[in-house]
Amino acid sequence: MPDSQNTNIEPQPPLIDPFGRAVTYLRVSVTDRCDFRCVYCMAEDMTFLPKRDLLTLEELDRLCSAFVAKGVRKLRITGGEPLVRRNILSLFEALGRHIDTGALDELTVTTNGSQLERFAVALHDAGVRRINVSLDTLDKAKFKAITRWGEIGKVMTGLKAARDAGLAVKINTVALKGVNEDEIEEILRWSHGEGMDMTLIETMPLGDIDGDRTDQYLPLSMVRANLAERFTLNDIAYKTGGPARYVEVEETGGRLGFITPMTHNFCESCNRVRVTCTGTLYMCLGQDDAADLRAPLRASEGNELLDQAIDEAISRKPEGHDFIIDRRTSRPSVSRHMSVTGG
Ligand code: GTP
Ligand code: 5AD
Ligand code: SF4
Repeated sequence: MPDSQNTNIEPQPPLIDPFGRAVTYLRVSVTDRCDFRCVYCMAEDMTFLPKRDLLTLEELDRLCSAFVAKGVRKLRITGGEPLVRRNILSLFEALGRHIDTGALDELTVTTNGSQLERFAVALHDAGVRRINVSLDTLDKAKFKAITRWGEIGKVMTGLKAARDAGLAVKINTVALKGVNEDEIEEILRWSHGEGMDMTLIETMPLGDIDGDRTDQYLPLSMVRANLAERFTLNDIAYKTGGPARYVEVEETGGRLGFITPMTHNFCESCNRVRVTCTGTLYMCLGQDDAADLRAPLRASEGNELLDQAIDEAISRKPEGHDFIIDRRTSRPSVSRHMSVTGG
């Protein structure tokens, strides 16, 4: 990517929402496309955005940098699958300058792992040190059933490449009733055995999928109680800036995180907002309210309009989500898919 004009950022007042929470974490979905079709995430037959609606990588860089100037300390690149976007490395390379200057504490990515073999070394070179890889099963056939299009072998090769490149890896596992609930212990032992942290996630009602979410929903309170029968789980204060609460598993010596939007709402400590690949800012994963940043971004070369639009949006960040999964509510709480906002 050509050097952006915004290499030196002008510090701005921090972003504080109406509930006194500072916004220091930006999640950026760089594409809504993916090379998998996970059953809890997408319908098999998805309609994606036309490419012309996407922000260019230069525009994404400018947008992220505007947030960094406003006190964002952590940037996570997500999707869809972020590593399937053409030339995506140039965005990591450009954003890495904020790590070099100390303006940013962390530049990171959430990926399905399918492309890591190609990208691991270059991600590390760009300043990425820790990545999250989504993996819901270790079983080849089950992996195919969950992801519809994925190949577990490619993910395993990618994971090895990541660790060889010096990237710390956290495994993200969505707990799915009747699908991987009997495998959670095995995934835990495997992740910790390989020196990787693991986080369990409750499935959230985002977007229409082909099945019924009630069939998939597995409360982590139950999973935790089951694990506690076989492992000693010690609460620890470890924090990554994300929503997980961590325990240390005495028997494995590894860390296990719980992300519990359904059973234990963590909105009171929310520090994050999300931008989609079209420049739409969502102030909450679980609410529809959004602000268009693409128009102010494109309206002028300077950042005044963009800064104003960001400040205005943060001034209406909602208090939290109201997700429900039950048989009487067949509609998703939020109509857009996770792949639009990137989790
Ligand atoms: P760390 O930096 O490792 O803490 O990562 P993270 O948990 O912030 O990011 P990751 O991409 O691994 O996200 C894991 C899952 O947490 C995502 O799939 C989201 O579904 C969920 N999550 C993250 N932030 C929020 C949030 O604000 N609200 C809700 N409901 N879920 C969230
Ligand atoms: N509920 C919970 N997690 C989801 N993910 C995708 N869709 C959902 C959903 N409906 C997870 C992916 C990945 C992360 C970015 O979001 O598995 O780990
Ligand atoms: Fe792709 Fe991630 Fe959605 Fe699976 S969960 S379809 S890997 S975006």
